[in-house]
Amino acid sequence: MTAPVEGFSKLSKEAKIRWIASRYTTHPEATEALLKRYWNEDSKLQQLHDEFIENTITNFYLPLGVAPNFLINGKLYAIPMAIEESSVVAAASKAAKFWLERGGFKAEILGTEKIGQVHFLYQGNPELLKSFISYLIPVMKQDASSITANMEKRGGGIIGIELRDKTADIPNYYQLHCRFETRDAMGANFINSCLEQFSASLLREAQNYDGLIKDQGDIEVLMSILSNYTPNCRVRAEVSCPVKKLDEESGLSGDTFARKLVQAVSIADNEPYRAVTHNKGIMNGIDAVVLATGNDFRAVEAGVHAYAARSGQYRSLTRAEIQGGQFKFTLEIPLALGTVGGLTSLHPLVKLSLEILQHPSAEELMKIVAVAGLAQNFGALRSLVTVGIQQGHMKMHLLNILNQMGASKAEKEAMVNYFKTHTVSHNEVVKALEAHRSN
Ligand code: MEV
Repeated sequence: MTAPVEGFSKLSKEAKIRWIASRYTTHPEATEALLKRYWNEDSKLQQLHDEFIENTITNFYLPLGVAPNFLINGKLYAIPMAIEESSVVAAASKAAKFWLERGGFKAEILGTEKIGQVHFLYQGNPELLKSFISYLIPVMKQDASSITANMEKRGGGIIGIELRDKTADIPNYYQLHCRFETRDAMGANFINSCLEQFSASLLREAQNYDGLIKDQGDIEVLMSILSNYTPNCRVRAEVSCPVKKLDEESGLSGDTFARKLVQAVSIADNEPYRAVTHNKGIMNGIDAVVLATGNDFRAVEAGVHAYAARSGQYRSLTRAEIQGGQFKFTLEIPLALGTVGGLTSLHPLVKLSLEILQHPSAEELMKIVAVAGLAQNFGALRSLVTVGIQQGHMKMHLLNILNQMGASKAEKEAMVNYFKTHTVSHNEVVKALEAHRSN
């Protein structure tokens, strides 16, 4: 077993690579060379990436693709997507085109409020605590004014602070439940800084508030942190068209196609095993745009899945219905995104992605991201209820298989041509390439 290492973060990047390669890989020199090959020649650009995190040893590439032809609220977008899964960008583009010919997507913001909480314990009289917190709220706001000043200039800030008694769940447990508006910033740093200031004010003022601590026992702050569950920072995306306009290339009538889509959504709404996969397909679109625009996809994932389970059962995030001959397909999700701060002005490809999107506000980005999720779900369901998912997926995966087999450019061309009329599977590709090579 390898011995633990002391002070690894203080080693130079070269030394870190050597240490990792020599201890954990079978071909240390090849590994070292491989890791360096992924460095950027531009040393400033490389340093920027090195400094995003600790212990950087190289860059980890993902493709950045673009899905064009997204008509959203009457404006055309090409949506940048960072993702490794073969068929996602192709499916998004196809869904965009389908809906472009049927009036495009609509999207609206349902709220932009973010949440943060100070979690604390207090053993004393709840009524006394209530009156203390009423006294404290303006003090906390005043104490946080140097943090909030800039945000207020941009139209954001603290919306409200309330005391929540959670002692029925956990003995002595209370929260300061705080609501914020963070405009074009995702707001994590702003919210956490405010919360830590609130907690300092709470502890300081509690010492002097009449009888609160003296007779009743101390206040203990456990933690101050934003919540990634933002049900009131929510967006809705929608497509609709007359059922008769849904006639589908696979030959299904609009009626049958619409009915199958509605049933597929209904299954996902009622059956958690299906709901998870259904929503995963939505997240294929959402995460790819969230990542390309430098946003926190883990926060988005956590919040969206909590929202999907808000009824107590994990359900579909999309809804589909047929009413009066009209098919309607919607997605409603919480999304806390930023277009300023964080990586947005640092990572060159994030900057480029935001430029491709014509420098959206956070609200506009919420709409774009929700539309990408809805389009992805439509694309997946369309395949699932008609030709199945593997046809499109394997077509896109063909190049991965050929690359695994070291196919040349000419061989790839020949194989792509051959598989236009044959079904792709790993076995069939191996057989076809071998046959091609022996000709
Ligand atoms: C694959 O990444 C996503 C799908 O499984 C989604 C779905 O089943 O709806 C195709």
